[in-house]
Amino acid sequence: MDNFLSIKDCSVEQLNELLKLSVDLKRFYKAGRQDLCLQGKTLALLFEKASLRTRISFQVAMTDLGGSSIYIKPEDIGGIGKREPVKDIARVLSRYVHGIMARTFEHDTIVRLTEYSDVPVINALSDWSHPCQAMADVLTILEHCGKLEGLKVAYVGDGNNVARSLAFVCAKMNMKLAIASPEGYQLDTDSIQIANNICPDTVVQTNDPKKAVAGANVVYTDTWTSMGQEDEKEKRAKDFKAFQVNAELMANAPADAKIMHCLPAYRGYEITDEMAESKNSVIFDQAENRLHFQRALLKRLLS
Ligand code: CP
Ligand code: NVA
Repeated sequence: MDNFLSIKDCSVEQLNELLKLSVDLKRFYKAGRQDLCLQGKTLALLFEKASLRTRISFQVAMTDLGGSSIYIKPEDIGGIGKREPVKDIARVLSRYVHGIMARTFEHDTIVRLTEYSDVPVINALSDWSHPCQAMADVLTILEHCGKLEGLKVAYVGDGNNVARSLAFVCAKMNMKLAIASPEGYQLDTDSIQIANNICPDTVVQTNDPKKAVAGANVVYTDTWTSMGQEDEKEKRAKDFKAFQVNAELMANAPADAKIMHCLPAYRGYEITDEMAESKNSVIFDQAENRLHFQRALLKRLLS
């Protein structure tokens, strides 16, 4: 594995190896030990969008592993692809750092960085996918449910970057994913096809959230308005009204179904405060696991 751009491009063995390493390193660090495998290594973090979890967990992970990181906002370098082409940024950074992590609007920007970079590139969220999130998600599910294979995840909300990576990881891990989205906001059929080609019948789509959560081990949601879609916020709030994770919806799920959200959560929109704070919610374990997965990924790619 030279880069980490999409779950669909990783083998099941690679993903399982990363999961195992995440579990091992989590245990290791919780025991107060350190693995300084990235001493002398630097990671560049390119961010076109805001971030709490991804930025901090990558920076802490680099520090934990003995390395360092440099946070770069677009304005620091005159814009990504504006002051100079993406291909030049990739080649220049490759002469200074040992890895590039990028959060961009267009997925193609990350693909271009990868094409021209001599060092590993990590997708830290694009409009198309969020693979690091999906890996932290399955790590969390594994910890709370004791297994992955055969579990049913219900995703209620926008068929977006997070839903797409979830579809790919469910296919790779032999899990089922029921996605309930309003008309016009469904995950594209190509992505569903990719997931179902990896593992038949992984993803089913419905317009009925109640149907999606029936029998689900996990109920997952994400914002109705992703970064870059702020102008559509009002329309989306109306269109998604019937797709909120609330007590009424959860009454249709098994009593022990876990509630997940990649965060940030917009309470009163895609999830109620009551559900985000309920005993079924594992959202902060999920957020913590971003760090544990990130450490494993960096060790695997940069050491
Ligand atoms: N879930 C997630 O990626 O959070 P940030 O946008 O805060 O990084
Ligand atoms: N779908 C959201 C995820 C944020 C972590 C977005 O792209 O803004």
